[in-house]
Amino acid sequence: MLKQLDLKNAYRVTPTGLYLISTAYQGKRNVQFAFRALGLGDEPPLLLIGIQDGNFSREVIQQSGEFVINVCSTEQLRAVDKSRDMSGRNVEDKFAALGLETLPATVVQAPLVKGCHANVECKLVKEMHVEGLHLFVGQAVAAHVDDQVAPIARLVGKSWRLDGPI
Ligand SMILES: Cc1cc2nc3c(=O)[nH]c(=O)nc-3n(C[C@H](O)[C@H](O)[C@H](O)COP(=O)(O)O)c2cc1C
Repeated sequence: MLKQLDLKNAYRVTPTGLYLISTAYQGKRNVQFAFRALGLGDEPPLLLIGIQDGNFSREVIQQSGEFVINVCSTEQLRAVDKSRDMSGRNVEDKFAALGLETLPATVVQAPLVKGCHANVECKLVKEMHVEGLHLFVGQAVAAHVDDQVAPIARLVGKSWRLDGPI
């Protein structure tokens, strides 16, 4: 039976994935969790992420014009609690602080997070600002996928297993 939903929770009933957005500029690298991400199209290959104004990642994306969308598997979930209230502004190496292993990217400076379902290297092509959020559109310049590692989904603040196609 349908029930009324508080409008402030409307954005939380759209299922998404869970992502780690990695960034780097002039030797300083950073990473943050995000559920706000969406693939937009194939020609050109465009993807969208939403990053909060106050995040260090927002600054690094604007400085470098690059980011990597790492599509999380269950392996990265243990870093979620540690990541809360941790900003790359205040730690030397947030990857190390969160226990995340990295691999070099092939085109961009930001590293790939190891053990993910996929890693998409992006160059920033467009930016838009809406109510506390920066929306960054990236064009994929390299993309990697491991079909043996399942991605996870995110819905109303919880992580969900994706058991396979229906
Ligand atoms: C599960 C989860 C999902 C999150 N989703 C987003 C998101 O979509 N966009 C965002 O800007 N922050 C999101 N955050 C919050 C950032 O990860 C958090 O503000 C982070 O500490 C920012 O780090 P930084 O200052 O090093 O960039 C999420 C956090 C968690 C735990």
